Amino acid sequence: MANYQNILYSIDAPIATITINRPEKLNALNKATLAELRIALEKVEKNAAIRVLILTGSGNKAFVAGADIAEFSSFDKNQGSELAQKGQESVMNFLQNFSKPVIAAINGYALGGGLELAMAAHIRIASDNAKMGLPEVSLGVIPGYGGTQRLSQLIGKGRALEMIVSAQTISASQALEYGLVNHVVSQENLFETCLGLAQKIASNSPRAIGKAIEAVNACFDTSKSGFDEEIRLFGECFGTEDFKEGIAAFLEKRKADFPGK
Ligand code: COA
Repeated sequence: MANYQNILYSIDAPIATITINRPEKLNALNKATLAELRIALEKVEKNAAIRVLILTGSGNKAFVAGADIAEFSSFDKNQGSELAQKGQESVMNFLQNFSKPVIAAINGYALGGGLELAMAAHIRIASDNAKMGLPEVSLGVIPGYGGTQRLSQLIGKGRALEMIVSAQTISASQALEYGLVNHVVSQENLFETCLGLAQKIASNSPRAIGKAIEAVNACFDTSKSGFDEEIRLFGECFGTEDFKEGIAAFLEKRKADFPGK
């Protein structure tokens, strides 16, 4: 078991939870936290007993209040590019392409890199005290962990640009109206709500779910034809044990018990 300093990692199969755990810094993402996050994500991806991941922040104030501003304060151009590239590749893109659904439980501030992390997840559920924004231009930078792209994909160009160039945060209810989050619940019900959804997801075919994520992601990948990808992935499902089990269970009028193979 890795010895994490900045995250908490727990498994209650079939659901794993990763909690960013720097509450005294509102869970800001420094390099060490991103590195630990990557290690834990790899473990989740490899563990066949885990079927859904919930990602949240420690305490009741913040999901993640951004990249660690103190840490990058003296960076030059090259270090800046490297920070963005490493963050995108090692955590944000890895999360987006995860084969298991990732639910971000946004339990407070999700700002800058925090909102970018939540947007790399597949599903977002927020507590009613949550505040979301990409305030980077107020610091003289722009979002670097994929925020300009994913916010535009999720809420459209006009709304994304308004949020990005004004550096204003939006409330949970505004985020719901924009489609940035799927649901808003009270803070005390947030984790239970995420767990309930995770349990529903976990009863379905892991192989089909992984392929569904891949197909939906292809919609936003300009190097691919999403429709062609869907055809390919649909066909692949027919070669899985999950497919055999799902069809057999339906025909035998029983609940499927998917092997995830
Ligand atoms: N990076 C580094 N440290 C951060 C941080 C970040 N993104 N966000 C918060 N912190 C630290 C604060 O420096 C403070 O540390 P200190 O007690 O050692 O001084 C601690 O977390 C608590 O934050 P504080 O600002 O005192 O809380 P608050 O309730 O007054 O304000 C926020 C909360 C979220 C409005 C404010 O912390 C903030 O604006 N954070 C930066 C958000 C941001 O610009 N993120 C994008 C970064 S690219």
